[in-house]
Amino acid sequence: MTIPLFKNKRILLGVTGSIAAYKAADLASKLTQAGAEVDVILTDSAERFVTPLTFQSVTGRPVHRDLWGSDAHVVHVGLSHGAQLFAIAPATANTLAKMAHGLADNLLTVSALAAPCPLLIAPAMDGGMFDHPATQANLKTLQARGAIIVGPAEGRMASGLSGKGRMVEPAELLGHIRLLLARGGPFTGRKIVVTAGGTQEAIDPVRFISNHSSGKQGFALAQAALDRGAQVTLIAGPNTLPVPAGASVVNVRSAAEMAEAVLAACADADVLIMAAAVADFRPETQAGQKIKRGGLEGYSLPLAKTVDILMAVAEQKERTGKPAVVAGFAAETQNVIDNAREKVIKKKLSLIVANDVSAKDSGFFVDTNRVTIVDAGGGAATLPLMSKAEVAEAVCERVERLLAG
Ligand code: CTP
Repeated sequence: MTIPLFKNKRILLGVTGSIAAYKAADLASKLTQAGAEVDVILTDSAERFVTPLTFQSVTGRPVHRDLWGSDAHVVHVGLSHGAQLFAIAPATANTLAKMAHGLADNLLTVSALAAPCPLLIAPAMDGGMFDHPATQANLKTLQARGAIIVGPAEGRMASGLSGKGRMVEPAELLGHIRLLLARGGPFTGRKIVVTAGGTQEAIDPVRFISNHSSGKQGFALAQAALDRGAQVTLIAGPNTLPVPAGASVVNVRSAAEMAEAVLAACADADVLIMAAAVADFRPETQAGQKIKRGGLEGYSLPLAKTVDILMAVAEQKERTGKPAVVAGFAAETQNVIDNAREKVIKKKLSLIVANDVSAKDSGFFVDTNRVTIVDAGGGAATLPLMSKAEVAEAVCERVERLLAG
């Protein structure tokens, strides 16, 4: 899937001699699929684990090796000067040591010395090597010079031992690369609060009322805001989704907990995007112990309304003026646009994203959405069937225009 952030971006990927080099092929593939041009430099030791052909196949570009040709003296300069980011993954203890001391004895370390772009390093080594004072000192030196060190992660290593030394997984590295590329984007300096997922309203300690929301649309919105350089607070109901790198997550369960978290985060926020499917009703009381099957004869469950979070935000905004832009979502099963127009006014929103959750290719369970964006004046724009990531881009584009205006 292409990601707009990667359009016209050139990334230099340095691969050194660690068993994690095979995972670098996956990273190169992910970056290429996202739309980046990926130039790979393999060290001699890396070539003992993986072949240039592997990387050439996934990137569709020639791979740079330590076989220096006649133009070798300019290759390193050209490579690193044309790139927006230099990622070294995996980075061995040996390469870290060389870089910390400014040594330049192969194409990778020469390029690292010549690179004016941001440098991301994903160390991979045995736990003992990582813990060694020499490696720690080298990492500190590189960090002090501005390199971003990601990982290593804890877990089982090639030696069979467990510890800290595994290269961070490619999907997670991709998130950190996005964060670096997003620096200076249109949301730089903006605080954006995004809510995601459904809430759970407890009946007793083991049961609750909830809905089918997966949280996917909210998480995609958080990622799209991060891709524009925003500081993102993601307030999420129970979910199993990976957290986008760079987002600060507040996990909540009930509508009341979500309301408290949203009001606190909105006090100094520029934007709120309320994608969560907040439960409208909760049991009037919560049983302290599990309700037993035997006692259910004639049982009824009285419900009470939950707090309308967007209404509470509108009230707070009257006093604080924040957030400047508030976007709601409307999950409808009929009269989608009319209902959305009503909600945009009632909840004092800048815009509302309405979708028909009864459609098979839109709303719950699927990765696509069919939405209409209704603005504060009632103007409606119906977008074609899109991925939730594309919907997130479209919403962020509008938020960007509202912030600028
Ligand atoms: N919302 C909210 N607090 C609630 C319920 C909903 O802030 N207790 C927000 C949702 O996050 C969404 C917007 O209000 O951004 C519209 O939600 P929706 O469920 O479509 O509308 P409701 O206000 O619940 O109205 P209705 O049930 O009549 O459709």
